[in-house]
This record gives sequence, C-alpha cells and structure tokens, in this order.
Amino acid sequence: KMGYALAEAARDRGAGVVLISAPTGLRPPYGTQMIPVTTAQEMRDAVARQAAGTDVLIMAAAVADYRPSFAADNKIKKSGKAMTLVLEETPDILTETKAPGLIKVGFAAESEGLVANARQKLEKKGLDLIVANDITAEGSGFGSETNRVTIIHRGGKMEELPTLMKSEVAHQVLDRVAALVSARPKGKG
Ligand code: CTP
Repeated sequence: KMGYALAEAARDRGAGVVLISAPTGLRPPYGTQMIPVTTAQEMRDAVARQAAGTDVLIMAAAVADYRPSFAADNKIKKSGKAMTLVLEETPDILTETKAPGLIKVGFAAESEGLVANARQKLEKKGLDLIVANDITAEGSGFGSETNRVTIIHRGGKMEELPTLMKSEVAHQVLDRVAALVSARPKGKG
C-alpha cells in the first residue's frame, strides 16, 4: 500500500513512474508503468534494468530475506520423518543498486530499536533517506491505511511525523526527495 501510494503521489507531481511490484490486490495507478515480479530475484533484475538514467529509487517493498536453496522438480513425497528446509539469503536490492547520481530511499520495518536499526540500514545500504516504521504501533505498518514514520536523513537529521494517511506520508517523503533532487550537483541527470 505504501509503495502504491508513493507511485501515485510521484505521478501526481509529474514524475515518470515505474512501479515494480509483487502480486497485490491493488490497482496500479493510471499513468505509471507497472512491472510485475514474483520473487526477490526478479525484483532485483527489474530494478537493475531500470537503474541507469533513473533519478530516484524508493524501495518500500518488504522483500523476503530468505529463499529455499533448492526447488524440487517434482512433488516431494512424505517420508514419515521431520523435514528441514535449507534457506539462503536473497540479494539485498538497495545495497546492490548503484548508478551515477541515483538518489536511494529505503524503508525500515522495525519492531524494536526503531531509530538505531534504521540508522544502521541507512549507513549499510548507502541511502540518502530512510523512512523508519514501527510495525507494532497502532495505525502503522502492513495492511493499514495509515502510517506513522520517522524520516532519517543521511546527515543525521531526524523528523518524526504524526500518524498520517499513506498518501500523505508519500507526499511528505517526496517533499524531502524533491529537495535532494534540486540540491544535486548539475550534470547528474
Ligand atoms: N530491501 C532490499 N532487498 C532485500 C531486503 C530489503 O532492497 N533483500 C530493502 C527494503 O525494500 C527496505 C530496506 O531494504 O527499503 C530495509 O528492509 P527491511 O526489511 O527493513 O530490512 P532488512 O535489510 O531486510 O533487514 P532485517 O530484515 O534484518 O531488519
């Protein structure tokens, strides 16, 4: 819901929007280009294809962190014993994606240590902004129409927003993104 709200708000501000999305029950906003994906790997590949020449990458997706190491070609028969599934990490799309002048914005879904964890993610993933989201707070997180977020800037500035509709959160985030785009050195897109 947050990703679709961002796509719609960016479209309303005149941006050319590519929405890379896993299956949802939501309708892609009219006038955006939707690229459907079903796995973290497909999302990674789609983002990689779009990165060059893009001004801003905003990752609101709750990407799966692990995937099964092996996929069976045929039905797995029951053996009467317990079964262990081996999982491997998926690629970290935000960390991997690099392009000249690309502004990167991440979300941090946290259930504890909100600000400290979000700051760590901002640093580790080389982001310009991170939108930290306490998924246990009322009116926040997955499925909700509203969200309560704290926006943390690369320089350390931190802004705690009240509970807002996701569309309003989207515009708040895009206000900060627009300021970063205008402040960017000339000749970088
Ligand atoms: N993200 C990503 N690729 C992944 C996992 C996450 O690009 N494989 C992005 C998310 O879209 C989000 C940010 O990284 O913008 C933080 O995601 P989050 O799930 O909060 O954190 P993780 O890095 O997965 O760390 P952890 O689950 O251990 O908190």
